[in-house]
Amino acid sequence: MSKSRLIVLISGSGSNLQAIIDHIDAGEINANILSVISNKANAYGLERAKAAGIATAIVDHTQYDSRELFDQSLAEIIDQSSPDIIILAGFMRILTETFVMRYVGKLINIHPSLLPLYRGLHTHKRALQDKTTQHGASVHFVTPELDAGAVIVQGVVSIKNNDNEETLAARVHQIEHIIYPQAVKLLTENKVELKADHVYINNQLLQQPKQYYLKK
Ligand code: GRF
Repeated sequence: MSKSRLIVLISGSGSNLQAIIDHIDAGEINANILSVISNKANAYGLERAKAAGIATAIVDHTQYDSRELFDQSLAEIIDQSSPDIIILAGFMRILTETFVMRYVGKLINIHPSLLPLYRGLHTHKRALQDKTTQHGASVHFVTPELDAGAVIVQGVVSIKNNDNEETLAARVHQIEHIIYPQAVKLLTENKVELKADHVYINNQLLQQPKQYYLKK
């Protein structure tokens, strides 16, 4: 099978990007990352991309008068590579409906909570405040409503008595680095599809996303 063409959008550290690069390098994902695009010039993920020999681009949102214009520029750059899959990996911008619908079905995101719990920001803090026992991350298709798209796979971590935001975030990151490559692999193998807002795996409606547990 030919290699899938991936584009990764980041805003920060890019540890999820790194996990995907590592799985490609290990031969576990049959894909090429065509470019890594950041809305922030100082995102450390850009260094990770360069170290892996991947092309980078910066589309600085502060240079645009509106979300629409920013998204238009982003789409122009993305379309130059005609990617199969667009991966949001810590990309901290809300995307317009026009942008999302242009790529719907091939646009995925990782969100640091067990969706549908805790959409939006500060998920670790909110989980701790609620004294829940479990937290985690979800890989989902991106649809116009924020963090509301159908979930493909989840990673679960137990909350410990002495956890704070940092310790919890660190364990969520560990499970993210396991589940995001898994989800990308499924997509590159054409095993997963979004139809009428539902996930199908091997043409079967996914009733419950598969959950991976962090064993620590
Ligand atoms: C992750 O926690 C992800 O869930 C969220 O942003 C963070 C990105 O981390 N969307 P990194 O840049 O991949 O290290």
